[in-house]
Amino acid sequence: MSLQPAPVTFEHLTHGLGIGVATPRLSWKLPPGTGAQQAYEVELHQGGRLRRTGRVDSPDHVLVPWPGVPLTSRERAAVRVRTWCVDGEPSAWSEPGAVEAGLLHAGDWSAAPVAAAWPEDPGTDRRPARVRKDFTLRRPVTSARLYVTAHGLYEAEINGARVGEDALSPGWTVYHQRLRYHTHDVTAHLTKGANTVGAWLGDGWYRGRFGFDGGTRDIYGTDQSLIAQLEITHDDGTTTVIATDSTWTAAPGPILTSGLYEGETFDARLDDPAWSTPEPVLPVDWTPVAVHRRDPATLFAPQGPAVRCTQEVAPVSVIRKGDGRYLLDFGQNLVGRLRITVDGPAGTAVTLRHAEVLEEGELAVRLLREAHAKDTYVLAGEGPRTWQPRFTLHGFRYAEVTGWPGGEPAEGAVTALVHHTDMRRTGWFECSDPLVNRLHENVVWSMRGNFVDIPTDCPQRDERLGWTGDIQVFAPTASYLYDCAGMLDSWLTDVAAEQLPDGTVPWYVPVIPGGPQWTPIHPGAAWGDVAAFTPWLLHQRFGDLDLLRRHFATGRKWVDLVERLAGPTRLWDTGVQLGDWLDPIAPPDDPGDGRTDRYLVATAYFARSARHLAWSADALGDSEAALHYGALADAVAAAFRGRYVLPTGRMTSDSPTAYCLAIAFDLLDTPDLRRRAGDRLATLVLEDDARIATGFVGTPLICDALTDTGHLDVAYRLLTQTECPSWLYTVTQGATTIWERWDSLRPDGTLNPGGMTSFNHYALGAVADWLHRVVGGITATSAGYRTLSYRPRPGGGITWANTSHETPYGTAALSWRLTDGVMTARITVPQGCSGTVELPGREPLAVGPGDHTFDTARFDHDAAHQRRMPAFGPQVPLR
Ligand code: BGC
Repeated sequence: MSLQPAPVTFEHLTHGLGIGVATPRLSWKLPPGTGAQQAYEVELHQGGRLRRTGRVDSPDHVLVPWPGVPLTSRERAAVRVRTWCVDGEPSAWSEPGAVEAGLLHAGDWSAAPVAAAWPEDPGTDRRPARVRKDFTLRRPVTSARLYVTAHGLYEAEINGARVGEDALSPGWTVYHQRLRYHTHDVTAHLTKGANTVGAWLGDGWYRGRFGFDGGTRDIYGTDQSLIAQLEITHDDGTTTVIATDSTWTAAPGPILTSGLYEGETFDARLDDPAWSTPEPVLPVDWTPVAVHRRDPATLFAPQGPAVRCTQEVAPVSVIRKGDGRYLLDFGQNLVGRLRITVDGPAGTAVTLRHAEVLEEGELAVRLLREAHAKDTYVLAGEGPRTWQPRFTLHGFRYAEVTGWPGGEPAEGAVTALVHHTDMRRTGWFECSDPLVNRLHENVVWSMRGNFVDIPTDCPQRDERLGWTGDIQVFAPTASYLYDCAGMLDSWLTDVAAEQLPDGTVPWYVPVIPGGPQWTPIHPGAAWGDVAAFTPWLLHQRFGDLDLLRRHFATGRKWVDLVERLAGPTRLWDTGVQLGDWLDPIAPPDDPGDGRTDRYLVATAYFARSARHLAWSADALGDSEAALHYGALADAVAAAFRGRYVLPTGRMTSDSPTAYCLAIAFDLLDTPDLRRRAGDRLATLVLEDDARIATGFVGTPLICDALTDTGHLDVAYRLLTQTECPSWLYTVTQGATTIWERWDSLRPDGTLNPGGMTSFNHYALGAVADWLHRVVGGITATSAGYRTLSYRPRPGGGITWANTSHETPYGTAALSWRLTDGVMTARITVPQGCSGTVELPGREPLAVGPGDHTFDTARFDHDAAHQRRMPAFGPQVPLR
């Protein structure tokens, strides 16, 4: 009998509690050595009954359809699976995986939003409220669930204990249409007798000040409310439901002010750790709440993980500034907040300020624009207390501590708590070049800092928005490093929610008021194209056809709009376009004004989005749409060539980004044109001494465009350049994250004067996808990595590289090393998958699941590059 498969998982979730899908799809991984699955059987314990599917002849074990009747709200099921693999024998049953539906229907909700009822002066700092309710349980508790969300942010407590470990819940969605609730198992929180449930509330995105140019308050509403439904099952099967309603009470808490940008002020003298128990210690005037309205049909369960603290970082140095201030360096630019443990006289105020970089030895707060990033803790004077702010995050490497009682904070007294969406890490890369490794590490940190419920541009200044172009270019990298399928699926649903009826995709999602350039919303290339590119990419990486199907209409509406805008010429040459945003020669105050014609960029993206739709339609079995968008993509590519490619093969914008688009988006129709474009691109790069001359659009493409046209050596020259502008310039300057601008820190040591200078922007880190696929050598060649290519292409003096990726089917890995020109490669193919291995100088070879080792003959890699390795063609469309 073969080994048991890993426990079943549900949709893209790591645990199945509170799932929002009545028929969740199942996935399981096969243990090493089993070979391909031939059949499976699922056993389902549901509604007190056990059913088995019987043997199902199928190789599928990723996102397999739910085999039972749909789950009803709150219904639990346990699911096991066994498989038949090559030996023809059934495996042992897997350990059971548990799934429990959340509240699937509007009618399941009796909770209403409850908020403080006292009048609020809009001019004040709007002190946040807490809400609570006492109740008595007359029978023992066998199980209990808290379904909870808020208008604003919340942290729930029951009987003095925090519920869950999530931060900034319920996260940020297009609240009017979709407000996420979480389900918690709170059985252990409750007892027979007197109980209390309560919650801290904060403004968050719902009604806090948010957005650039001063921001806007009350974007979604004016109330700061809790919506909670506590459902308790007793030993005799009866239930008690405690839902937010008019019987709850509210009072201001010890948080005096709170804002995502501003930070938090907390007065510990007003803090009563027993406030959420039946016997509070401090006398507080709890007054009846105001009850607000919410359509429960707009409440939905999470599709991905919540934001949590995932790591603690201690300061690497503390510098005394002489006037009672201490400057702490955490050695890493990160996103999170500080936890302090402090003791001192009552009323002492300890202030924490944050910044990513220093300017003349002080925090460079100018770059934060109107985000104050300042937390204040006022001591109660009752012995040591540990505190961290609740409803704020900051992007920082440095913190300034003022007012610390008794001099310098002791070791362990101040710790940075890293926060982001708690995704499963799935991708790793390292090689023999320590600078490249640090670059990769910086990409990982920028992803962590900007995957905070939504994919943001930056985490520190008064912005932190879901800019669509940034994630469009970074999604290939992100989906290798972390399992971000659920999070991005959710965000794409918000993209659809915000799409205008004419098909316009906003610049950033969720949409909030912006300056005149952004409001009203108008369509822009590379940003709006997220609608066609990203669902396809996620399908390639995670093998999720349903996801592709659900988001297809958004992409289609987008491409149809661009088709109308372009008209019969097929050239999109109108409107506001950001072009190759942040080309290094663009002036600091006009980052769209680079070397490349903005409309060339727009038409190239039009062609490529149409192509993405054709591939998507084909995968979805819609041959009519596949034909239509395929023909459109061809027509736009022809128009592109007619308008932007000169008879000599040069382009009207003789810029690297122009050639990158033409090559990487496969817009050139003859091998000769393609070769000439590649040669010109390589020449331009070398003329510039392999310094970067591309922005958001060209940078993610350039290494592939060079590699695919036989200029791998030039791609490596770009990668290993350390002069400004280049990726490794930032590393040699001590960068620990990816910067927004190539010269956020300029070679003369000064900070870029542009009003938009972040040190934590993942977009230009999109090169990591090339590191994974070309230097590391692993590429998916069909959806979900069911088939893979192992093709490492060494260069740049790199003598070894290791990469691995936890695919939906299991681990794929490739480690290669060069010794005297001989490459030794160790390869792991996930169970259920097959691969093609292409090593320098060797014929391609098919490999099946498991570990394999290969050696090549002695091989002159540099000479091979100069001879031009055979061109790869554009990244193959996957199925
Ligand atoms: C953001 C970018 C974004 C851009 C578009 C900036 O302020 O930080 O990353 O894509 O605006 O205009």
